[in-house]
Amino acid sequence: MKITFAEAKPSGKGLLAVFVSAGRKLGTTAAALDRRTKGALARAAAGGSFSGKHGETVAVVAPAGLEAATVLLVGIGEAKALDALKLEALGARICLAANAQRAAAVEVMVDELLGAKTPAAEAAAEIAFGLRLRSYRFDKYLTRETADKKPTLAAATFRVAGAATARRAWAPLAAIADGVDFTRDIVSEPANVIYPGSLADACRKLAKLGVKVEVLGEKRMRELGMGAILGVAQGSVREPKLVVMRWNGGRASDKPLALVGKGVTFDTGGISIKPAAGMEDMKWDMAGAGAVIGAMHALAGRKARANIVGVVGLVENMPDGNAQRPGDIVRSMSGQTIEVLNTDAEGRLVLADAIWYTQDRFKPTAIVDLATLTGAILVALGREMAGFYATDDALAGQLDAAAKAVGEPLWRMPLGEAYDRQIDSPAADMKNIGGGRWGGSITGAQFIKRFTNDVKWAHLDIAGVVWAEKDKPLMEKGATAYGVRLLDRFVADNYER
Ligand code: BES
Ligand code: MN
Ligand code: ZN
Repeated sequence: MKITFAEAKPSGKGLLAVFVSAGRKLGTTAAALDRRTKGALARAAAGGSFSGKHGETVAVVAPAGLEAATVLLVGIGEAKALDALKLEALGARICLAANAQRAAAVEVMVDELLGAKTPAAEAAAEIAFGLRLRSYRFDKYLTRETADKKPTLAAATFRVAGAATARRAWAPLAAIADGVDFTRDIVSEPANVIYPGSLADACRKLAKLGVKVEVLGEKRMRELGMGAILGVAQGSVREPKLVVMRWNGGRASDKPLALVGKGVTFDTGGISIKPAAGMEDMKWDMAGAGAVIGAMHALAGRKARANIVGVVGLVENMPDGNAQRPGDIVRSMSGQTIEVLNTDAEGRLVLADAIWYTQDRFKPTAIVDLATLTGAILVALGREMAGFYATDDALAGQLDAAAKAVGEPLWRMPLGEAYDRQIDSPAADMKNIGGGRWGGSITGAQFIKRFTNDVKWAHLDIAGVVWAEKDKPLMEKGATAYGVRLLDRFVADNYER
């Protein structure tokens, strides 16, 4: 999608989007065009079900008196209620409406938005962000899709007074959108394309943004004593990788924030094999790693003034003749031993070594991990919110605020001694599943906590939110890149100097 900003005068051709607020009140541009069409726009706004509600659109085709092929009236609702998320949603609606019109380009006339609280130039950038996010589509394997099914929109020009200001506001948003799209690409790819080696190669691409990328292979992981992650990997012909990505935009003396991701490129369950139905979903069991990689992409892309280290544990969980068996006992890098009672509880084994390594090497101020860890979090929260755990209330508050600001909501879950007791094992320091069926996301979190070495830590169980079965306001169904925007905002609001 080509996004440009230009001064307010419309070219007059093609598809023009103009704004109308609640009660069919035409914005300044809409009103000016309406006069030239002898009231055609006002009549169109009054004719049908359109009322100017936020997100409504009506297309006025070939209006007499204008050169424009089509004028798109876009409802904004109450102008005063337009926050960043609502502006983004307007951009997304324009994207959909432009494609419905089979337009290749759209000009969006951003006037003072009828007195909205955001200055028009910044509002234009937010609207552009929503349009850009909504235009993403993973269609590279649809070789037979006919042209009439493909979206047409390829360019959007935002006409606004103060285009230079809009361009400045857009630059970081474009970097975030690049990060989001990068994540959506790697999460959408099937597991024959994205496996530990190829995902590590994708991480290497971040080097061109100034990220220092290191890839640890199996040999190095063995030297470091990462028995937990290696146990998961041993049933696969694919070599596991641990990737370290460092972005140093802060002061040299500042300790980094660490982001750690579960990157199980495919989760069959291993010998504790999953049922066939729906197993294909487990191609996105690397979405925690995907979010960390995309966040690093976004942070480096916008040159965030903070030191961030991203670590992802990449492994495929397969059941071959060399696979780990239920009951096996492995020794983690921390020295703690783990009885693997269920080989399908593999994400926590990956994080155990990845997190221990991260705190040991980088001495971070805090660790935030993201993982599609449990089905139990879907039982608790469904697909609307991710669950999270934190050992520090301030950290929890910061994550919650960032989540709300970007519309990637979180719900805090409890940690506690009684849950921790449930992963004690008579045979080893701990077992990798809780005693019974209940509280499965919590016992997963308690397990991970034992590898944080008391560093401030938060864990996001994102199993319910990384893949959308239905279209969402800002994105087409499929990979949501949940976490990229959240982490970016969390860093922006709390770690940048
Ligand atoms: N990757 C799965 C969790 C998952 C389930 C993600 C459904 C997305 C949708 C994880 O590795 C897993 O298998 N967890 C088990 C843990 C159990 C064996 C303690 C689960 O949730 O059933
Ligand atoms: Mn599993
Ligand atoms: Zn898994």
